[in-house]
Amino acid sequence: MIDLIPEVATKRLVLGVTGGVAAYKAAELVRLLVKNGIEVQVVMTEAARHFVGPATFQALSGKPVLTDLWDGGSTNGMTHIDLTRNADAVLIAPASADFLAKLAHGAADDLLSTLCLARSCPLLVAPAMNREMWGNPATQRNILQLKRDGVAIFGPDSGPQACGETGMGRMVEPQTLVENIDSFWYPKRLQGKRVLITAGPTFEAIDAVRGITNLSSGKMGYAVARAAIEAGASVTLISGPTCLTPPSAAKTLAVTSAQQMLEAVNGVIADADIFISVAAVADYYVLNPSEQKIKKDAHIFTLELAPNPDIVANVMNLPDPPFCVGFAAESENLYEFAEAKRKRKNLPLLAANLVQDAIGSDQSELILFDDEGAHPLQRAPKIELARQLIEHIAKLYHKERGQN
Ligand code: C5P
Repeated sequence: MIDLIPEVATKRLVLGVTGGVAAYKAAELVRLLVKNGIEVQVVMTEAARHFVGPATFQALSGKPVLTDLWDGGSTNGMTHIDLTRNADAVLIAPASADFLAKLAHGAADDLLSTLCLARSCPLLVAPAMNREMWGNPATQRNILQLKRDGVAIFGPDSGPQACGETGMGRMVEPQTLVENIDSFWYPKRLQGKRVLITAGPTFEAIDAVRGITNLSSGKMGYAVARAAIEAGASVTLISGPTCLTPPSAAKTLAVTSAQQMLEAVNGVIADADIFISVAAVADYYVLNPSEQKIKKDAHIFTLELAPNPDIVANVMNLPDPPFCVGFAAESENLYEFAEAKRKRKNLPLLAANLVQDAIGSDQSELILFDDEGAHPLQRAPKIELARQLIEHIAKLYHKERGQN
């Protein structure tokens, strides 16, 4: 049976930038949001334009930046209403003390404050200000009021401030803000579950500088880690060598060889409810690697290879295994090879793709194989595929363990 899982719709965010030094961080935030496939419409206050020019935001978001209530480009003159009707959320970052006060009191004297009042979608704010301004009872009263009104508050963080003082009031870093926004948007299907993920390639040493590895970038495994975090799971990521930054909320263990990956998995598997084996583990390791760099000479050089342990198979053989998910990258006969691999490894779920579609790319196609059959996911950014995979895992996991 083939059951096509629908595509995830693009999320739309209105980003309000208010006047504060942290406005420069909002530029990086826009870049990261756009990179994550989110459509961003930037609205700046007059004060924000003193800190960063609108051209920066226009270039990064690919849309003209709006500021003026009277010149929004809307044909019906209702920019403040039109802007949020198709939006999934409004985020104010940085949110100045003054803007928080306006929000708390329902003031509407410019485009940004008016669209916040006129919106029907969720409002998220990332405050940024001097520590005394943050600690002032007036600001704290406003924050309490906003929480009561259902506004989500991200941060602020504590640390050195632009004014030279140190304390609470720094805007949450852009990468963490993106993770916070994702977590806000996606349902908590794995709340409280412990998910262990392996990712990336392994590297099997030949000598001090050389080794056998593969072209896995780790992008899919890291995307799965992010999607699991968004779904409320606590995530441990065991990663082979990659150039990627792991999600800040994941506990990450860096390994090199398949043997090290196996040992790292064995060390934490007892605490896992779900194990997702995304890593492209090398099939063989080199017997007796040289500690020194091997010198070349004119003779044929032979490497002796021995098979690596199959990590996911080891986990499946535990007396009480977690819910296990495998991955398969094939270069041909995808359906046949992937389903055979799932059966051989006795896995409830296996995600498969063609290597030529996936390796190193930010996009991929994925087919999920389970007891019900094959479920092809349409070509999409890896993070969107990862979200659909996590959704599917959660469904099967809760069905198998008899929970909702
Ligand atoms: O390499 P193969 O196609 O058999 O990989 C299928 C699945 O098995 C993947 O989930 C991979 O992470 C896992 N695997 C493993 N240990 C190995 C080889 C593969 O856990 N030595």
